[in-house]
Amino acid sequence: MPKIVIFSDAGMSAESGINTFRDHDGLWENHKIEDVATPQAWQRNPELVQRFYNARRKSVLEAQPNLAHQLIAKIQDFAECDVITQNIDDLHERAGSRHVLHLHGNIRLAKSSAPGAQYSETFYPVQGWELNLQRDKCPLGYPLRPHVVWFGEAVPAYKHAIQLVQDADIFIVIGSSLVVCPVAGLIHEIPATCEAYYIDPKADHLRVPKQYHLIPQTATQGMQMLFTQLKERFPNKT
Ligand SMILES: NC(=O)c1ccc[n+]([C@@H]2O[C@H](COP(=O)([O-])OP(=O)(O)OC[C@H]3O[C@@H](n4cnc5c(N)ncnc54)[C@H](O)[C@@H]3O)[C@@H](O)[C@H]2O)c1
Repeated sequence: MPKIVIFSDAGMSAESGINTFRDHDGLWENHKIEDVATPQAWQRNPELVQRFYNARRKSVLEAQPNLAHQLIAKIQDFAECDVITQNIDDLHERAGSRHVLHLHGNIRLAKSSAPGAQYSETFYPVQGWELNLQRDKCPLGYPLRPHVVWFGEAVPAYKHAIQLVQDADIFIVIGSSLVVCPVAGLIHEIPATCEAYYIDPKADHLRVPKQYHLIPQTATQGMQMLFTQLKERFPNKT
């Protein structure tokens, strides 16, 4: 069975109605990223940061997986399929993908904001869309913060991601400008024999090495085309 590894980023969920950041003049839902997605922002104004991510969580809960998420889940019928995502939404899981590695965290989870707890493996599921600074606290009494990796923070899952990519027969990058760390490095980790694809309306070889086949389309258009090809090549495992 072939090993297919997907890397998805903000463009993957655009057709589910969740806006990307880089396509909106560097504003994410009208906020400058440094005001809401850095450890300094949390120190300065935790209310604003909590409110911003509460709104993101609400829109994730209201969104549905799109056709591209669904087709990626169907790849599991004929291949081993790992999904590495920089998205903080859970649309891959809701579409049925069983192996999803979140590099930038998962907005449906919270963690402690205690000093040093940044890389703790203790997560708290968020009920509904709202985390409340006064109400929702860790056992030590610190407010819970969203489980997201902010700009300037390390990405603990990156090592695992590299292992997955280095073992891929087929690697598919979807909806990424490829400038946000750590994916900028990840795309160079594929083996020389790996078949690689890059689906993004702005796909070009300035962003990826020549080894990548370009599919300059949206996530749903590109995945429909690629899925049909893959399905013809690999019979179902059942
Ligand atoms: N859904 C989410 O969870 C979500 C959404 C926005 C941002 N973020 C977080 O913020 C970080 C930075 O966000 P960003 O927007 O700069 O990401 P990014 O660097 O991946 O840029 C967005 C990319 O999506 C592409 N795109 C736009 N519409 C598309 C479509 N319909 N199909 C396929 N590709 C499409 C754009 O051409 C661009 O290359 C992300 O890595 C992520 O961690 C998460």
